[in-house]
Amino acid sequence: MTMTPTKKAIAAVVAIGAVVFAGALAYALTPTATRAIAPADAAVDRAQLVEAGRYVAITADCVACHTAPGGKSFAGGRAIQSPIGNMFSTNITPDKATGIGNYTLDAFDRAIRHGIRQDGATLYPAMPYPSYAKMRDQDVRALYAYFMHGVAPVHQANRGNAIAWPLSIRWPVAIWRKQFAPGDAAPFQVSKYQGELLARGAYLVQGPGHCGTCHTPRAATQQELALDESGKEFLAGGPLIDGWRAANLRGDQVDGLGNWTEQDIVDTLRTGRNRSNAVVGAPMNDVVAHSTQWMNDGDLKAIATYLKWLPAHGGGKATFAASDDTARLLKAGNDRDNRGAQLYLDNCNACHRSDGKSNAITFPALPGNPTVLADDPTSLIRLILAGSRLPSTQERPSDLAMPGFGWRLSDDETAELVTFVRNSWGNHARGASAADVARVRKAIGKDGGKELDQASTH
Ligand code: HEC
Ligand code: HEC
Ligand code: HEC
Repeated sequence: MTMTPTKKAIAAVVAIGAVVFAGALAYALTPTATRAIAPADAAVDRAQLVEAGRYVAITADCVACHTAPGGKSFAGGRAIQSPIGNMFSTNITPDKATGIGNYTLDAFDRAIRHGIRQDGATLYPAMPYPSYAKMRDQDVRALYAYFMHGVAPVHQANRGNAIAWPLSIRWPVAIWRKQFAPGDAAPFQVSKYQGELLARGAYLVQGPGHCGTCHTPRAATQQELALDESGKEFLAGGPLIDGWRAANLRGDQVDGLGNWTEQDIVDTLRTGRNRSNAVVGAPMNDVVAHSTQWMNDGDLKAIATYLKWLPAHGGGKATFAASDDTARLLKAGNDRDNRGAQLYLDNCNACHRSDGKSNAITFPALPGNPTVLADDPTSLIRLILAGSRLPSTQERPSDLAMPGFGWRLSDDETAELVTFVRNSWGNHARGASAADVARVRKAIGKDGGKELDQASTH
């Protein structure tokens, strides 16, 4: 029997498909060889190594992801949202049955810097190994000593991921890893940076601190567009994390850190606030609460030095030129025709005052504020709808909160208010529409974002 041209074409496509599939499978399953890490020098004092590792774990914020709300530290089980379903972090305490007690130093290194599990399977990049790839050998060795000898073993079985088949098949993740995770290919180069402080800051931000996982935009295939300053998208403002937009950390004057001093950055990382800005939303609150507030002064200064060294991205369209027009309008009560101004007086004025500056250290200032002036107004809308709570830190233990107004403001009113705040006191940024507000309201759900926040707070 002869085949019709259509059948021939189908047969050819199937044959090509099978070859491509077999090729992809073979590529994915070819084991990755990694440079073996040298063991710790026998002369090094164990207690000192464990203590050094405890500090590395703080700079790398391992506890934030590997601890469930209300759970034991590092015992895993925290849900991590991803576009393909929830995944759960694993138990990384040294329990031999359910944790990583059987990991050798080399196996540990392969998980941290390469994303390869002890059994050879690839880890989802929810574990930030593309950033950790830059970590120095000495830090990985210290980290290993800490997890083996400084962390108490907890017997707690891992939960399976809630990712639906076929996306739950792991081998294609190996293709992603081989394409996009640097592994041994791009070790951190101290000599690229002038001066010890700048180099230390670059190392902390790119490597253990993995700031880019939230603050750098991603490609359609989900890898970060740049892993260091060689790409101008590095830290230029990331995707939505639990409904909050991670800010631009580059030198842009209006929607970046261009107008912040080094001290402003240090204060923010230590206390969640500075003389005129506050951190809003659970994702960055968590970073402050678990990681940056515990870093030493030298390291915070190093991070600030590095961030201030990054040039502007230049993508933002908002402008700012301080003006007291709005303050005069609000004080004179000439707001009859301006619904945005009325809504501000009714809802916001008590705390943020008519000049938008209030008593700066208690309530953040709204003029020239990067969170207010970000190109995308999502964070501002979410803040007005659902509120936010400053993290309580050892230096500033009170946790001040801004209440949510979603229960009393309609989509229309919220949009008017957002547009007013983004165009007052010298702020100039595009307005928001009722549709923008409706989208955010839907995303944060009926509970006003509590569930989303819970996922990132514990
Ligand atoms: C942003 C969240 C996040 C951070 C930060 C993070 N991890 Fe993970 N880690 C995960 C997730 C999620 C998994 C499981 C991934 C999977 O199932 O493929 C994981 C897996 C692991 C594994 C593999 C464990 C196993 O089950 O065999 C180890 C080891 C590990 N992490 C150690 C660490 C250490 C040490 C740190 C700090 C240096 C750290 N992680 C920081 C999210 C994170
Ligand atoms: C889990 C995601 C996440 C990680 C990791 C993260 N951030 Fe953030 N960060 C955010 C989000 C979201 C915001 C926006 C909050 C806001 O607008 O106040 C933010 C805000 C900030 C701000 C305030 C910016 C502003 O304009 O108000 C600074 C400074 C900052 N982050 C620095 C860092 C540094 C340094 C690191 C690495 C040590 C880091 N972040 C890691 C999510 C993250
Ligand atoms: C009860 C006092 C209070 C009221 C009323 C209030 N706020 Fe706030 N606002 C705060 C506090 C406290 C913070 C810091 C919260 C945080 O960092 O989590 C804040 C933060 C902000 C920020 C973020 C500033 C930054 O640096 O990122 C903006 C913008 C803002 N408020 C706007 C408004 C608007 C608009 C209204 C009216 C709908 C309003 N606030 C009503 C207390 C208040």
